Amino acid sequence: MKKYRLPNEQIRILVYDKTRPQLYIETYGCQMNVADSELIVSIMIQNGFSITEDINEADLILVNTCSVRENAEQRVWGRLDVFKNYKRQKPGLLIGVIGCMAERLKEKLLEDEKMIDLVVGPDAYRNLPKLVQSAEMGQKAVNVLLSREETYADISPVRMDKNGVSAFVSIMRGCNNMCSYCVVPYTRGRERSRNPDSVIHEVEDLIKMGYKEVTLIGQNVDSYNWINKKNNLKTGFANLLEHVARISADIRIRFSTSHPKDMSDEVLHVMNEHSNICKHIHLPLQSGSSRILDLMKRGYTAEWYINRIESVRKILPDCSLSTDIIAGFCAETEEDHMKTLKLMEWAGFDFAYMFKYSERPGTPAARKPDDVPENVKAKRLTEIIELQNSLSAKSKEKDLNKSFEVLVEGVSKKSDQHYFGRTSQNKVVVFPKEEFRIGDSVLVKIKTCTSATLIGNVVNKRR
Ligand code: SAH
Ligand code: SF4
Ligand code: F3S
Repeated sequence: MKKYRLPNEQIRILVYDKTRPQLYIETYGCQMNVADSELIVSIMIQNGFSITEDINEADLILVNTCSVRENAEQRVWGRLDVFKNYKRQKPGLLIGVIGCMAERLKEKLLEDEKMIDLVVGPDAYRNLPKLVQSAEMGQKAVNVLLSREETYADISPVRMDKNGVSAFVSIMRGCNNMCSYCVVPYTRGRERSRNPDSVIHEVEDLIKMGYKEVTLIGQNVDSYNWINKKNNLKTGFANLLEHVARISADIRIRFSTSHPKDMSDEVLHVMNEHSNICKHIHLPLQSGSSRILDLMKRGYTAEWYINRIESVRKILPDCSLSTDIIAGFCAETEEDHMKTLKLMEWAGFDFAYMFKYSERPGTPAARKPDDVPENVKAKRLTEIIELQNSLSAKSKEKDLNKSFEVLVEGVSKKSDQHYFGRTSQNKVVVFPKEEFRIGDSVLVKIKTCTSATLIGNVVNKRR
């Protein structure tokens, strides 16, 4: 059973109060959605709801959705079919679609699916309690207004992670980059940064609650930019990262996602100066061909990306790198694809998320023909995955017989006699439990590895 971690004692007792209406929430998509669901739970608890993990008990089902690729939306449609069956058995049950699909499809969702009662976009969550009230009175409720200011800075999220060790902290919302294939700028709106003081307070609260790791999240953390209206002083991402790192040496800091066009050496130097900032950067490449990067409107060339990696290697020699790759974007030739493979091989990524291009309605790329045939996309994706598998294997072999500080995150899925945790480089390590506890930091010597994990033994407890 999931445990909810609460910002304060007052609402602790309310979470599982069975006398209150019960909210069941499911979350799809990226870390931003995970963080948003934690805000939503907080908002709903403060407005009379309690949380249930048992869908049979639900009075309100919220599904926090993703539109980034067609299959992400397909999954949600599949879930909506399931929710419909629950509603047939319990007619008062309300179903709300929230998040990026709500924003993309708006009222059309209600037309297509009569069982949906609420449609709420990512900037309208403060309004959820009122919208639920309208829905309870039998009115369909929709709010998909995007905002230029909303950052939910004053709302303390109710943590829904399993272990109480690692939490996301949202530092910005939206995205201004307009990559030609991407739906996010339309579903999440304009980029805006959150007040750094509220970020710092949230991290301090997490430390008080016993958390050992925070991940600062945003679609492009490098463009974080807060201007203090009183004195016009600017806080950029490097400053924010430094402030957060200074809060406590005992908390690890991660961040995601970096953008190759904006990632500065200043950030790399801050990472180098603070041992509690994890040495891992997620730097989506998308394509190794400058021609395709231009069509994608990514704002950098392959050479620029190579230069960014060279900087990482110089300033942070022990830093790991992961990436995202899209196979079969419009007009991609075999030659472009080979350039992607070549750059991946040169970079030696430690990990990658790899996708087939999925045309998203309303994006600039959707006006061009999606002209790489499905079988070619599939073949290219397979080649990309096979190459990455061998790069990931090499990356793990490099770690054999070395020792790494590992934050213990939980019990291994495969064996209850083992824990799992991650190194600073974000590699998963499994090791015998011995007398250690979740949340400990231990030094693990790596003995062997599988395709996804490093396996070792604790040689020393750190703290
Ligand atoms: N802001 C981040 C991540 C956004 S979405 C960034 O710029 O990297 C996560 C990943 O999904 C992207 O990096 C991209 O690789 C992939 N993606 C986005 N839109 C896509 C589409 N239409 N088809 C296939 N993959 C897509
Ligand atoms: Fe999408 Fe590009 Fe923004 Fe990432 S940076 S969210 S890929 S538009
Ligand atoms: Fe998906 Fe929205 Fe995130 S489209 S990837 S949930 S910002």
